[in-house]
Amino acid sequence: MGDIVGKAVLVREDLNVPMKDGVVSDDTRLRAAVPTINELSDRGAKVLVLSHFGRPKAPTPEFSLAQIAEPLSQVLGRPVRYIDWEGDKEAVATLRPGDIAVLENTRFFGGEEKNDPAVVKRFAAVGDLYVNDAFSAAHRAHASTEGIAHVLPAFAGRAMEAELDALQKALGAPEHPVAAVVGGAKVSSKLDVLTHLVTKVDHLIIGGGMANTFLAARGVDVGKSLCEHDLTDTAEAILEAAAAANCTVHLPYDVVVAKEFAANPPTRTVNVHEVAADEMILDVGPAAVEALADVLKICRTLVWNGPMGAFEIPPFDAATVALAKTAAALTREGSLVSVAGGGDTVAALNHAGVAGDFSFVSTAGGAFLEWMEGKELPGVKALMG
Ligand code: 3PG
Repeated sequence: MGDIVGKAVLVREDLNVPMKDGVVSDDTRLRAAVPTINELSDRGAKVLVLSHFGRPKAPTPEFSLAQIAEPLSQVLGRPVRYIDWEGDKEAVATLRPGDIAVLENTRFFGGEEKNDPAVVKRFAAVGDLYVNDAFSAAHRAHASTEGIAHVLPAFAGRAMEAELDALQKALGAPEHPVAAVVGGAKVSSKLDVLTHLVTKVDHLIIGGGMANTFLAARGVDVGKSLCEHDLTDTAEAILEAAAAANCTVHLPYDVVVAKEFAANPPTRTVNVHEVAADEMILDVGPAAVEALADVLKICRTLVWNGPMGAFEIPPFDAATVALAKTAAALTREGSLVSVAGGGDTVAALNHAGVAGDFSFVSTAGGAFLEWMEGKELPGVKALMG
């Protein structure tokens, strides 16, 4: 990158943080942006932060990044100016080396999501260099994530580097045996993930609602559990592909069931073959969790996406918490490299109190899933060449 004193550096961050009553309710992504922004500022650049915020249909205050300037300033420990796209050039011209500003929501330009060359030009006009630090938006081939990398000298930011490094260790060139935990409600949302993983990992642990579809494919009567009965053939095909690739698929053999999905209802822990017609499976049972812990103990690498049960309602968080604690302990002991990512996953690991003990927790949702599908992410590819 060389000497950047006085240069205007456009830094693509993902400031798409959740808000509640006008307040940032989870600032993980803001904190992830700190190393890159502060380093560029320390090196004397004029730091211009680019980001989308939400999915606006039109420019409205609700989607304005003006409201993120102050929270970002708090985590950076430095002032952050807000610059509207109207009069942006004049505003940028008043910045001094080391100053930091956040530009208005990139999606206020209709052409951002179409990767419109005119919008790329508009963004590039205010910067000398481009840094992409937003892995979590890298699955989008948008003007601010992809197009611009072809018109300005482009570099990866520190958070982007850390994500790529962790993901490379987890699935790119991992130490074997590798285990993947894939949970969540529906098989349909993770078909490509499962199909890709069976060719990559030695142990595939399936939990959450999606396990029910696999159990049904194996002839288990899952009662009134969440189950995509129309996908049992697909589940069967994934199990066959796993067998052909020498990937051991682990499905629960005991489960926690209840007649209603509510906090602390009467529950039973039963063998999967004993689920009654009016019961639903809401968590993996303790015997299966113990067996899964033994699987993790012989593995060197773990990739985790999705909870093992209906973790947001107790006591159906038990399997997720227990397995996450095992993974965290093995990581602390140094026998396991553990990488987790994707929406609910981070919430589940935070709930278990172990997110800090994993080797790496991705800030990405959709991008993490696409990476687990083995897809090349356009925002990353554009940086490479
Ligand atoms: C995310 O929250 O996963 C990223 O910010 C991408 O947002 P998008 O799905 O609206 O493109």
